Amino acid sequence: HDNKTWSGRFNEPVSELVKKYTGSIDFDKRLATWDIQGSLAHAQMLQKVGVLSEQDLADIQQGMAEILEDIQNGRIEWSLDLEDVHMNIERRLTDKIGDAGKRLHTGRSRNDQVATDIRLWLRDEITVIQDLIRALQTSLLDLAEENVDVVMPGFTHLQVAQPVSFGHHMLAYVEMLGRDFERMVDCRKRVNRMPLGAAALAGTTYPIDRTITAELLGFEQICQNSLDAVSDRDFAIEFTAAASLVMVHLSRLSEELILWMSPRVGFIDIADRFCTGSSIMPQKKNPDVPELVRGKSGRVVGHLMGMIVLMKSQPLAYNKDNQEDKEPLFDTVDTLVDTLRIYADMMRGVTVKADNMRAAVMQGFAMATDLADYLVKKGMPFRDSHEVVALAVRFADGKGVDLSELAFEELAQFSDLIAEDVFEYLTPEGALNARDHVGGTAPNQVRAQIARWRELMA
Ligand code: ARG
Repeated sequence: HDNKTWSGRFNEPVSELVKKYTGSIDFDKRLATWDIQGSLAHAQMLQKVGVLSEQDLADIQQGMAEILEDIQNGRIEWSLDLEDVHMNIERRLTDKIGDAGKRLHTGRSRNDQVATDIRLWLRDEITVIQDLIRALQTSLLDLAEENVDVVMPGFTHLQVAQPVSFGHHMLAYVEMLGRDFERMVDCRKRVNRMPLGAAALAGTTYPIDRTITAELLGFEQICQNSLDAVSDRDFAIEFTAAASLVMVHLSRLSEELILWMSPRVGFIDIADRFCTGSSIMPQKKNPDVPELVRGKSGRVVGHLMGMIVLMKSQPLAYNKDNQEDKEPLFDTVDTLVDTLRIYADMMRGVTVKADNMRAAVMQGFAMATDLADYLVKKGMPFRDSHEVVALAVRFADGKGVDLSELAFEELAQFSDLIAEDVFEYLTPEGALNARDHVGGTAPNQVRAQIARWRELMA
């Protein structure tokens, strides 16, 4: 009745609504080129083990080459009647080359086919994402390098804590992205295993040689259990978890950029091309890109939740539930790729307002810990110096000035250990330079970290 591949055992055609509901061609057509790649490897293997003739293989190769061209030229019309990308391509092949096309599916199922396609596709996307993470890290390193000596208030609880180098602050994100990169590398190992050959669920009666297909497709390993091979999507969930962490890291950076660009803070400016105006308020320049990234992080975390719940409690082996893996996975990749790309570009367009940052350091007693440490170096136990400085802060706060702005006599009344050299320790630059050890904010340490990253990434 219709052109379904499997309609022989049915007494009536599938209802239009069901066709639409169960079809996946609208979104899985995106897998077409990887589907063809998998089919070509499968056919080559079948020929090598004597299941397909050389002529059949040649016909399949010829037909698939034409289909690839059709796809590239937009000449292909995907049909919902054929449900998904796999059956669309197979039918088109058969229309072109006849019986050889009908032999392609020997010893294979859409279940191992689709699992293979997703892995092939995701493997390529992870490579793109790895490059983009590196590109963003490079942007951040450039921005850090230009601003190693710029001092800004570091915050805890969003309250002024201690001075930090702006470069050091940027390097914190370079570290996060470095771990994100590692997670992608690690995740890719588990993506890069081949389900093909599992067939529907139990394997196949043909004398297949899975090492041939794995080698042709560049898979590092072969899935060793056919039931597991067709049914688990843990590799996709794992990827989405790694993607969620990247997005969460970028949502933190976004939040900071938004705060810093607020005129009330005034630490940075973002290039106009990444901002938008208001339809009513003429003065507005809004940081839409970071705001959207902050928002889109929720979307990716949502996909992670969706996919992990999708997997939960599914009995072995393949269930149609798994068709639902694609839209969230595709959207995760698209969102992440776009976000990384735009951020790598945008961070180059960040201008640092060093004077405002320094002025902010001078408010909020950012060097209070330095005064406490000064007293400790002169022999006072830290708990006592903490209390002494707290009293000095209360005094300065009452006068509305920073500790460094007190007269020597005013400061000295809090401890006999305070000498004239104290003021050297109460400058933002002095505070930075004093934290001179691996991982500290001293500019020479920050420069060393930048050099380390550049070498690591070269
Ligand atoms: N479109 C399906 C999917 O994405 C392909 C596998 C379908 N297999 C099946 N037996 N219905 O999961």
